Amino acid sequence: MKILAIDTSCDDTSLAILEIKNSKFKILSNIVSSQVKVHRKYGGVYPILAKREHQRNLVPVLKESLLKSRLLKSKIKNQKSKTQIKNKKLKKILKQEEVFYKKLEKFLEKYQKPKIDVLAVTIGPGLDPCLWQGVNFARALGYVWNLPIIPVNHIEGHILANLLPQIRSKSKIKNQKSKIKFPAICLIVSGGHTQLVLMTPVRKASLSNGARRNWKYKIIGETRDDAAGECFDKTARILGLPYPGGPSITQQAAQLKLKVKKGTSRFAPCNCKAIKEKLKIFLPRPMLKSKDYDFSFSGLKTAVLYDFKKRPKKIRVSKEYIKEMAKEIQQAIIDVLIKKTIRAAKNYQVKTIMLGGGVASNKELRKQFKEKIKRDAPRSKLLIPNPEFCTDNAAMIAVAGYFNKKKSWRKIKAEPNLRI
Ligand code: KG4
Ligand code: ZN
Repeated sequence: MKILAIDTSCDDTSLAILEIKNSKFKILSNIVSSQVKVHRKYGGVYPILAKREHQRNLVPVLKESLLKSRLLKSKIKNQKSKTQIKNKKLKKILKQEEVFYKKLEKFLEKYQKPKIDVLAVTIGPGLDPCLWQGVNFARALGYVWNLPIIPVNHIEGHILANLLPQIRSKSKIKNQKSKIKFPAICLIVSGGHTQLVLMTPVRKASLSNGARRNWKYKIIGETRDDAAGECFDKTARILGLPYPGGPSITQQAAQLKLKVKKGTSRFAPCNCKAIKEKLKIFLPRPMLKSKDYDFSFSGLKTAVLYDFKKRPKKIRVSKEYIKEMAKEIQQAIIDVLIKKTIRAAKNYQVKTIMLGGGVASNKELRKQFKEKIKRDAPRSKLLIPNPEFCTDNAAMIAVAGYFNKKKSWRKIKAEPNLRI
């Protein structure tokens, strides 16, 4: 069975092809076309530009992913007329996307239907204009190639990224469904979400027809305001660091660590005792002690802004200040995420703890999570996807698709506020 998956939930256009044979997963391709350069000058994702980029990228990324999977085959002459008959309806499906339609029409005229069994597409949560690009693209392909579509929840994709193969393993990997022992929890930390999701087993009969999944999800805690990734992005912006903020902050914080490691003074270039003292930064750890599993990161962002504003200009543009602040931001976020997750793990006596979402690619978070779980919840097993499967990608959508139910292309629509 081969699944072609599409994700356009935010600012990355991603397509992947996953092969499943005897319950083993093999990623034939996982292409991510990043729009970071386009959005960087705005300091965040600009939805209308993201939509335009998806329209530009989807067909080239489809071609690339089929090529990489060795599934791209040109048509022979008499196959061409068949497509023309179908094109009228196709135009209707893509009626609002003329540029997009033209690109797809050309592609479909040139290439044969690939050996794909089913399509999977992210229907939500995400940015409405972006989601619709992937959804309409899937609908168009579903119609022309006569394939069913599996609608996928992006958050479930981030969770089930934990079932994807590890980077180093070269070929087929066992379907690692058995890797998850129930009850399990997953901390999803992305640009739009911070959620703690509890996973418990269900009897197959209680699931809707055709789904392979035999567990259910329940959100036990989530952010009341900004998501963790959003906090990285917004505080980076305050410090004048480029978008996306997570990698920028991480990079700054890591530089500070390097200096300390080498045995040099943390503030070597400044060499001024008074400034060293003044640079001590203490940020709050919001909701660390609250009894629930909710999070809040907007206060942290405000604390960064206040600290930044109260510093003399000379200090706040200094490399030392930026690095010190970056390190404290990162640590404040990590402290809250780890503490709450471990508390939930203990209270629900989970057997597996999982991470997912772009922020889970953060090296320090991964390292500290491993240490703390070993120390405080040694009975739980920790799973963290490879960094490439933490940030948005379609391979995770293919895996989530595998466990869910197929539908006709006619029934697929975007749902920007979908909840797990
Ligand atoms: O999951 P994702 O790729 O997209 C969404 O579904 O939102 O997550 C993107 C978020 C951004 O906020 C980005 O700053 C953050 O993940 N991020 C990181 C790192 N890499 C990406 N945050 C912290 N450390 C990182 N290394
Ligand atoms: Zn995501």
